[in-house]
Amino acid sequence: MPAKPRNDHHEGAVPPADGNTGAPAEAVTPLIRGIAVLRELTEADGTLSLSALERATGLARSTVDRITATLARMDYVRVDGRDVHLTPRLMELGNAYLSALRLPALLSARADALADELDESVSLAVADRDGIRFIHQATRRRAMSLSFRIGDLLPAERTAPGPLFATEWTDTDWRHWRDRRASDPRDLSFTAVPPRRYGADERAAEAFVARTEEAAANGWALDDQLIEPGLVAVSVPVRSPHPGDRRSIACVASVVSHTSRHTARDLRTTLLPRLRSAVAEMERELHRTPPPEPGPSPSNLALWTGASKQRLGRDFIESLARGLTVLTAFGEGRPELTLTEVAQATGLARATARRALITYEHLDLVTTPSPRTFTLTPRVLSLGFPPLSRTSLPEIAQPHLSDLTSRIHESTSLAVLSDSGEEIQCTARVATGRVMSVNITVGTRLPAHATALGRVLLADTRDDARPGLASIRSQGYALVDEELEEGLRSLAVPVRDRSGKVVAALNTAMHASRHTLRECVTDLLPELTATATRIESDLRTAGRFTHVPLT
Ligand code: PHB
Repeated sequence: MPAKPRNDHHEGAVPPADGNTGAPAEAVTPLIRGIAVLRELTEADGTLSLSALERATGLARSTVDRITATLARMDYVRVDGRDVHLTPRLMELGNAYLSALRLPALLSARADALADELDESVSLAVADRDGIRFIHQATRRRAMSLSFRIGDLLPAERTAPGPLFATEWTDTDWRHWRDRRASDPRDLSFTAVPPRRYGADERAAEAFVARTEEAAANGWALDDQLIEPGLVAVSVPVRSPHPGDRRSIACVASVVSHTSRHTARDLRTTLLPRLRSAVAEMERELHRTPPPEPGPSPSNLALWTGASKQRLGRDFIESLARGLTVLTAFGEGRPELTLTEVAQATGLARATARRALITYEHLDLVTTPSPRTFTLTPRVLSLGFPPLSRTSLPEIAQPHLSDLTSRIHESTSLAVLSDSGEEIQCTARVATGRVMSVNITVGTRLPAHATALGRVLLADTRDDARPGLASIRSQGYALVDEELEEGLRSLAVPVRDRSGKVVAALNTAMHASRHTLRECVTDLLPELTATATRIESDLRTAGRFTHVPLT
């Protein structure tokens, strides 16, 4: 495969990690390097070995080690032997952008409803320079075509939203677009799309200019298999309620289908009218909703980084950790901040916050809508969001189960209730070497009422007088002693989603001779509860703007 082009025009363009090429003098080199590591992990779908990271970034091994130790301390990556994995916690960076933007919160329910009504995928995308980036996906995609993730970046000219955004491009944007095509004619740096077979030529460039003119005249645009054979889409702009904005398109809504169900022509006649009325409602929603009250700002971050420096010493790169906290200063009701506000929110010295912001501006992660204010750009989503937005609850739970098992030396499992409510199904498990007669593996089903896992799950959904459920609900755990099988003792606690609903149960099961009932409660329960809290925290972060599958 040809090497990824390295230019600093866009995405695949992971900036030179040595940090001294083209960066302003005040930029923070460790922050540039840390961002490069996060970008490489994202491009690799969330996992790379330490040596692959060393090669991909061109950094020395000792530097990669210190960066990953710092990111691991922040819970943004997990180091497992030689492999480095992105963790759901990292999604708080993309969440900061998406909640500051507010469009997903205001519009995604309508996009989902349209997808249900049409039984087709519906997406929302924003402009990201000469690309488009998805901020919401209501996916009904069948096996036949690619499906894009929140945070994926596509070249504007190969999409339906692209020509709509291009109606607002300045000369600089067009120049940017031409330069990018010249330096990467096959779109190799857009890792979410298949590369072009033949390089982008002058004819294709003219075709995009013509599509942009049509989009301006029509108010909608089509993608007739520009990304891959079969994939078709129709798009309509959602206009911002503020007529003074330089850009009036807040985002673009698309309906995506396959030629086996709709031709591009057909999309225009059958689906475009439905899309248009849904967009009209979205625009009314934007008009109607007043700006939110500023949300709570993060606090004491600077204290935390100081304490970590004390603990990890040389291996903790404080300037990287401090720099990353700057992104989390933004959020709902805090879309545009001054330097003073960023310093206040993070607890960082003004000079430190300023250098981080200068670094981010250089990396196109932050822009300055006015001379004194800063906002996040959609590119913040390139820090982990696409691969992490597909994480399921069992995947979130697995490393936490491993940690728990290594602390308590007993097998641990996660389970959900079956649709009928009669059975539980094991969705994640970490076994100890110890031989147990009950051989539970992922997928195993057991009667719900006879197991501690099942009782915790039932206690949340059943309001009946079944013995024990009410007390399980109030005490927050179930302990089942030798009911399923002689000698088997099981202790389970609930795992709740953002709304407080019990979505899974976590347990440890052991031979009755290993712990007295009392020890189960005094020794094991706090460990189990702490683990459930960690899983819940990851689930809250991951589930803020994406749907997290429970199995
Ligand atoms: C998508 O949402 O997956 C999508 C949208 C517009 C396109 C292609 C794909 O042109």
